[in-house]
This record gives sequence, C-alpha cells and structure tokens, in this order.
Amino acid sequence: MKVLVAEKIAQEGIDLLNQGDLTVDIKLDLTREQLLEIIPEYDAIVVRSVTKINEEFYERATNLKVVGRAGTGVDNIEMEGATIRGIIVVNTPAANNVSAAEHTIGLLLSSIRNIARGNQRIKDRAWSREGLKGVELQGKVMGIVGLGRIGSLVATRLQAFGMKLIGYDPYITDARFERFGVTRKENLEDLMQEADFITVHTPKTEETFGMIGDEQFKQAKKGLRVVNCARGGIINEEALDRAIKEGIVASAGIDVLVNEPNTTSPLLDLDNVVLTPHLGADTLEAQYNVGTMVAHEVVQALNGEMVPNA
Ligand code: NAD
Ligand code: MLT
Repeated sequence: MKVLVAEKIAQEGIDLLNQGDLTVDIKLDLTREQLLEIIPEYDAIVVRSVTKINEEFYERATNLKVVGRAGTGVDNIEMEGATIRGIIVVNTPAANNVSAAEHTIGLLLSSIRNIARGNQRIKDRAWSREGLKGVELQGKVMGIVGLGRIGSLVATRLQAFGMKLIGYDPYITDARFERFGVTRKENLEDLMQEADFITVHTPKTEETFGMIGDEQFKQAKKGLRVVNCARGGIINEEALDRAIKEGIVASAGIDVLVNEPNTTSPLLDLDNVVLTPHLGADTLEAQYNVGTMVAHEVVQALNGEMVPNA
C-alpha cells in the first residue's frame, strides 16, 4: 500500500512508516492541482493543518483508506466526507499540548512586556524604552475560554504567576474547573466583563468561529489583552483590529490566522500585536511525539487494527 506524506513530519515518523512494506512518498510542496492529480494512487495521506481534506479531495481520492492528521485540530478535514466513504481519520490529540500551552505563555509575556518590539528596536540600534512599558500578570484576572487539554495546562502555568483564573467552557464539569483552580463563568459575557486578559483554547467549530467579536469586545474592560494560540478566527480578526484601534484591546499575541499562510492580515501592521506563524506545536518534542504517533496510527489503521485516536 502507498502512503503520501504531504506536510513535514519528524524523520522518526517517516522511519516508522518505512519499517513495514508500505511505499512512502514524501511530497511536501505539491500544488493543490498536483495533489488532486496524484491522490488516486494512495491508500493513506499524512497532513498537518495546511492541506484541506474536503469533498473535492475525497472525490479524487478513490483508493484512500486513512487520513493521518499529525496534530490536534481536525478543522482542515471534512469528517462527514470521510465517514460516508469509510475513510478512517486519525490524529494525535495529546502529543503537542505542552508545546501549545508553553507557546501561549510566550505570546502572552511577549505581548504584554513588548519583548518582540524591544528586540526589534535594539536591533535597529535604538536604545530607548519609550512606549514599551508593560503590565504585570500578578493579581490580574485571566479569562480562559475552553478548559480542555491545552486550556488546563495554561491554567496550571498561570497559577504560578499569581493570577486569578476564570473560565468559560459549557461542556465540562465543575470538578474540572475546581481541579485547575479556575472559577466557572456560566456565560462568555460574564467572563468578558471581568477579565483583564483572555486566552482561547477551544476547537474551531461553527459555534466557536468568531465567538469573540465586536459584541464581546464592547463588554470588555478597557485595556484588555488577548492571546489566540488555538485557531484563527475564534477571535474575529477584523473585530480585534477595530478593538485595538479603539483602545479597547491593549495588546494581542496571535499564533493562528483565519487564512494560513498569511502575510496580509491587518494585524501585521499593529505595533501592539505579536504574531508567530503557527508555531504552537513547533518544538522538537511535540514534532517527535506527533510524527511517531501519527505514523503508528496510520500503520495500525491500514492493517485493520484498533486505533486509539480514530
Ligand atoms: P480539547 O478538545 O482538549 O479542549 C477544547 C475545550 O474547548 C474543551 O474542553 C471543550 O469543552 C471546549 N469548548 C468547545 N466548544 C466550546 C465553546 N463553544 N465555548 C467554550 N468552550 C468550548 O482541545 P485542545 O487539545 O486543548 O486544543 C485546543 C485548541 O488548540 C484547538 O483549537 C487546537 O486545534 C489548537 N491547537 C493549536 C496548536 C498550535 O499550533 N497553535 C497546537 C495544538 C492545538
Ligand atoms: C495542531 O492542531 O496540532 C496544531 O495546530 C499544530 C499543527 O498544525 O501541526
């Protein structure tokens, strides 16, 4: 059987795929047209978050049995199309959560302490603190939207900074809120009104896409600071741009944009926004975990074995 690796995964994952009698092709720079042209040859495909596995793709992928998503979110994969065709979709939900949580903290600190701007200024050979005064985390209220794997790791880390944590997640128990020391808010409005900072950690779904927009920013305290290391669009980008220009939001740390790759978002022009190009899971450890886990799962699925994250 043939496996197409269409986005970069760790070499250890490739080595695992190569151990059996699979033919493994690594083709990382295919155009959409090229991908659609060759996909009928393949029994499995391995992707990260860029490749769109949608109806157009399934119609061409006539031999496909398995989609391996080397990562957490499956929002780039249309699940219904896979289900009706009996295609197994596997992902690696816990493999990169520590990296994503740590990146969230990095974006938070970088944005509220002007680390990236300070770095740029000094590299431009200007030694000046002008306009770079930050704020402390200690004693402030952090609103966490989504208290799943990554949201809860972020909560644990923020406790160490002496923050007061509040959270909105209608799908989990009170016990989980208590376990992570987060005060439950029954609705997003209450969270927006009380928070000094917010960080979002929900999947991208119809319900969460745009869940923080103009209306929510109107409810916020002036000077709110936001982080999105989950998925582009959970915080509406145009609304965030407006809220920053109106002085409602004082800073933002953003790892993900609605359209990726992206070099044209208006957020790129704002000094108080720190951006990274979807680096949340880009560590040696996470990529090792994700690459080896997805390879195991693809092999298991092609062999007709039980797969834990199918
Ligand atoms: P998870 O499934 O463990 O947790 C998500 C939480 O969101 C759940 O507790 C769920 O109840 C909650 N939730 C769902 N809908 C909600 C809603 N409408 N309002 C409030 N809460 C809601 O997911 P996770 O592994 O913690 O991942 C969180 C996000 O991080 C996902 O979007 C994932 O794709 C993303 N992610 C990004 C990177 C990156 O590189 N930036 C890396 C890994 C994961
Ligand atoms: C994920 O959902 O796992 C991340 O966004 C990382 C990735 O795209 O590989």
